[in-house]
Amino acid sequence: MLEVRDLHAAYGDAPVLFGASLSVKEGEIVELVGSNGAGKTTLIRCVTGLLRRRRGTIEFKGDRIETHPAHEVVDRGIACVPEGRQMFPSMSVEEHLLLGSYLRRARSRRAENLSRAYELFPRLKERRRQEAATLSGGEQQMLAIARALMSEPRLLILDEPSLGLAPVVVGQVFRTIAEIRKLGMTILLVEQNVQKTLRMADRAYVLESGRVTLTGTGSELLGNDLVRKAYLAL
Ligand SMILES: Nc1ncnc2c1ncn2[C@@H]1O[C@H](COP(=O)(O)OP(=O)(O)O)[C@@H](O)[C@H]1O
Ligand SMILES: [Mg+2]
Repeated sequence: MLEVRDLHAAYGDAPVLFGASLSVKEGEIVELVGSNGAGKTTLIRCVTGLLRRRRGTIEFKGDRIETHPAHEVVDRGIACVPEGRQMFPSMSVEEHLLLGSYLRRARSRRAENLSRAYELFPRLKERRRQEAATLSGGEQQMLAIARALMSEPRLLILDEPSLGLAPVVVGQVFRTIAEIRKLGMTILLVEQNVQKTLRMADRAYVLESGRVTLTGTGSELLGNDLVRKAYLAL
């Protein structure tokens, strides 16, 4: 479904990605692991059209998208929950969700999608008139995920959804991701919390200094000595 090949990216003259390749097949949950500064967010920004790649190709459902602007990428069915969630503090929960459905493709099913979001996240329904700034970190993350789902994506990308959340809430977020996956969603998950997430990943890639250095099934990587040393502090 998603095929990234030989991706090079830079900020000004500072190169960040040096030929990274990865793929996500329909129905899979694929995890991208890597320490701070490895280039995970940069790779995601190239896929979602927020950063122009220097070299390489990005294919989605058979079409090349590496030169598409961000709105077109969303329109084609890629939704992203960005690192840090990026909420509008004074907008209400429901306003955020409706904002996620502005696309022509999803607009006509807005009401259905809204009730589906509230089914998946009952907390958000209870708080639908509340301003985003007054939500807890976990609730904000749920809102960011629900908002991404409002565009009816075929591929959902989550960039470090557990970042900055209390451990109990992290568990809830990961359970929600597992639930969304069961509904048939294809997922690319960026995480440093590998202990909890590699188990549910079909496959995973390790990104180090802008290069993919290791790939395998989630359980293979969880059992890999290098991964255990670098990311599990064992
Ligand atoms: N907007 C930016 N301008 C300049 N350099 C950046 C920018 N964003 C990230 N970088 C640099 O690119 C490298 C990779 O960052 P990033 O993709 O955010 O890594 P990760 O998500 O894996 O932590 C880092 O060295 C970071 O400092
Ligand atoms: Mg990042």
